[in-house]
Amino acid sequence: MIDLTDKVILITGGSRGIGRATAVMAARAGAKVAIHYGKRLDAAEEVRAEIEQAGGTALIVRADIASREEVFAMLDRVIDAFGRIDIVVNNAGIWKKDPIDNLSDDVLAETIDINLYGCYWVIKAAVPHMVRQKSGNIINIASTAGQRGEAFHSSYASTKGALISLTKSLAAELAPHNIRVNCVAPGWVLTDMSRDAIAEDSRGSIVDKIPLGRVGRPEELAGPILFLASDLSTFVTGEILNVNGGAVLCG
Ligand SMILES: NC(=O)c1ccc[n+]([C@@H]2O[C@H](COP(=O)([O-])OP(=O)(O)OC[C@H]3O[C@@H](n4cnc5c(N)ncnc54)[C@H](OP(=O)(O)O)[C@@H]3O)[C@@H](O)[C@H]2O)c1
Repeated sequence: MIDLTDKVILITGGSRGIGRATAVMAARAGAKVAIHYGKRLDAAEEVRAEIEQAGGTALIVRADIASREEVFAMLDRVIDAFGRIDIVVNNAGIWKKDPIDNLSDDVLAETIDINLYGCYWVIKAAVPHMVRQKSGNIINIASTAGQRGEAFHSSYASTKGALISLTKSLAAELAPHNIRVNCVAPGWVLTDMSRDAIAEDSRGSIVDKIPLGRVGRPEELAGPILFLASDLSTFVTGEILNVNGGAVLCG
């Protein structure tokens, strides 16, 4: 039912975790997929191989998402290869423990640079193409932390809260150009980012707070992301889609 035939989608952090699952599923739905990575070319190559073996089309693009210059150059490569950009999923991110009394300026700056500025650079680079095309679709990946806060992770939570208000602001601003802007806010999902924290949680306090009684799988995020990317959601913009097993119940 989700048909992305001939759509061009760029997924930042498409090499691992939620981004990887989204890339593979988007290709299965017919999209031409630009898989972005930062450091782990091997991981990006695995995703490309999986997509191509299934008959899909994929391109690997590298950029430090915190670098305005590198992100703009990345968008140029996507346009050179595919001629357009229909969907961007702002998924690359980092999550570092940072108790406020210990929070270093470096961790604070790095988190804001990657989680917030990175999304801005991708959006600023993609929107002129989308305006020219008279259509586009932007999906920002926030977090439950952006809604309820997260102790010992204030820098992360504050960037994710900012993505939620960025989503709402741009949804209204870009609607006249037929560009939709939405957000997916995941709860706990088993990926490289969360693996250690989930493994260390021997008392089960993570799962205890999830009504569905388990953490999510990356594919369970890919589906909702691609719903927003598809024509099944053409009247949805400015929305925060919570995908968290019921952990944060907000409308
Ligand atoms: N997992 C969870 O429980 C959870 C919960 C809520 C929200 N989220 C959000 O969901 C998104 C994906 O999370 P995940 O768990 O799938 O993460 P992950 O497994 O750690 O993967 C992170 C991805 O982001 C890329 N990346 C990180 N920093 C980068 C940088 N400076 N430049 C370029 N690429 C960079 C990585 O590429 P390289 O490996 O090449 O560096 C990788 O592809 C994030 O925004 C995260 O905050 C996750």
